[in-house]
Amino acid sequence: MKRRVLSGIQPSGTPTLGNYVGAIKRWARDQSQSESFFPIVNLHAITIRQDPAELANNTLDTAAWLLAVGIDPSQSVLFVQSQVAAHSQLGWILNNYATYGELGRMTQFKDKSQKLGPEGQLAGLFDYPVLMAADVLLYDIDEVPVGEDQKQHVELMRDIATRFNNLYGPVFKVPTPTMEEGARIMNLQRPDQKMSKSDKDDAGVVYLSDSPDVVRQKISRAVTDSGSTIEASADKPAVTNLLTIFAAISDKTIAALEADYAGKGYGAFKSDLAELVAVELSNLQAKFSVISADRDKLLATLDDGRDRAAAIADDKLAQVKAKIGLL
Ligand code: TRP
Repeated sequence: MKRRVLSGIQPSGTPTLGNYVGAIKRWARDQSQSESFFPIVNLHAITIRQDPAELANNTLDTAAWLLAVGIDPSQSVLFVQSQVAAHSQLGWILNNYATYGELGRMTQFKDKSQKLGPEGQLAGLFDYPVLMAADVLLYDIDEVPVGEDQKQHVELMRDIATRFNNLYGPVFKVPTPTMEEGARIMNLQRPDQKMSKSDKDDAGVVYLSDSPDVVRQKISRAVTDSGSTIEASADKPAVTNLLTIFAAISDKTIAALEADYAGKGYGAFKSDLAELVAVELSNLQAKFSVISADRDKLLATLDDGRDRAAAIADDKLAQVKAKIGLL
């Protein structure tokens, strides 16, 4: 049997070049070697207050972007989390197998709650990692590809699964986190911070919907490091980031690019990168517009994903309920 892989994606706005290079492009590339599940995690999105119309739109647009990048719905299971009720139901059940202490130690919760203040410290935000555990444990997942910021959540879901299995016998597969190598694409203006789609209208964030002119502008204005050599190193975070993007899109290695640009300045390097990204994104945008224009087909694709996900998830939920005495 193929190994099962699951990656959740938040419908919190247009995906960025960082989401594309660091995650979605790899998911599309690897989907034939594994059985992949891609929930669009709208129940996670509501842990931060959302505009309802925008959330609904972003959910469909996120699905359309995944399809545009090449997620193939006949190979992979693409679905909307809220449409598979087992996620919420198992989430509630698993709340009783995670402790307040464990959730309070999650660094993402601590960071977010500090930023949001008391009003934003919703119970759902605190509970977010438990729902994430349900997302994964419902499907006997082998691997969860994650960035550094989600690793602690995967560790917690492993603990929850193990605890449950110890109490009732083997029910859950214990998933392994795999690091998305080279996945961290940084903000073009602040290369010490991840390029994040929640940084709206940010000159350092390239969105997949940016026009070629905007792409050229953002890349030409990207900060660079002191010195003028184009090489990846720990003391050159800005240039390393640009090289990582260049390598991922051109399918060349960083070493080959360093050789190509030896003795050339930042100007030539940046303008080549800008062209490359501008062309890549306009191709994606063309696919995106075709896919999102056919709304009925998009909805039908998501219905099919929902049915295939639910068939597996409902079965796991039934096993769990039987184990703990829920009628
Ligand atoms: N928390 C993840 C993020 O913000 C999204 C997510 C939700 C997820 N459920 C998941 C990722 C399950 C992997 C597996 O990126």
